[in-house]
Amino acid sequence: MLKYKIISKNAEETRLLASKIIKMLKVGDVVLLTGDLGAGKTTFVSGALESLGYKDHVISPTFNILKCYFEVKPIIYHIDAYRLEDQNIDIGLEEYIEGNGICFVEWPVFIKPLIPNKHLEISLKRISDNEREIEIIDENGFYKDLIESLEVK
Ligand SMILES: Nc1ncnc2c1ncn2[C@@H]1O[C@H](COP(=O)(O)OP(=O)(O)O)[C@@H](O)[C@H]1O
Ligand SMILES: [Mg+2]
Repeated sequence: MLKYKIISKNAEETRLLASKIIKMLKVGDVVLLTGDLGAGKTTFVSGALESLGYKDHVISPTFNILKCYFEVKPIIYHIDAYRLEDQNIDIGLEEYIEGNGICFVEWPVFIKPLIPNKHLEISLKRISDNEREIEIIDENGFYKDLIESLEVK
């Protein structure tokens, strides 16, 4: 397992990190966002979307489960599985995970059987009001180059 750890001092730094990482990802990639409520998972996704030119406010699709951003390139899918806790997860999300876009997943723990081996994890931990410890985790060795290029920056 490869990891890159960084301390983000504020939301803008988290968004900047997301903009760097999205540039290194490709269609079909799956990015898991882990951490408690308020850790910054949605902030990370909004930073990635903003860097792709998306101008509107990004909110977590907690009630819709899935939001599709067809207007950016590559297409971004944003899943928030929080509300699926202990429910039937057989609602057709497979089409969006490893589909024709990059897929971000908040609360992947609730759709574990749908998560492919090839994924990148962004783990966020709250240290103080504005500080977060962020770990970029390559659990299965698919993102060695990405982790290495973060290290040299
Ligand atoms: N360093 C930081 N990184 C990310 N968010 C931060 C940071 N510092 C403060 N925040 C704030 O914390 C909140 C995180 O909310 P959100 O991204 O919706 O979390 P989650 O999706 O994990 O529940 C936002 O209000 C954001 O502005
Ligand atoms: Mg969220």
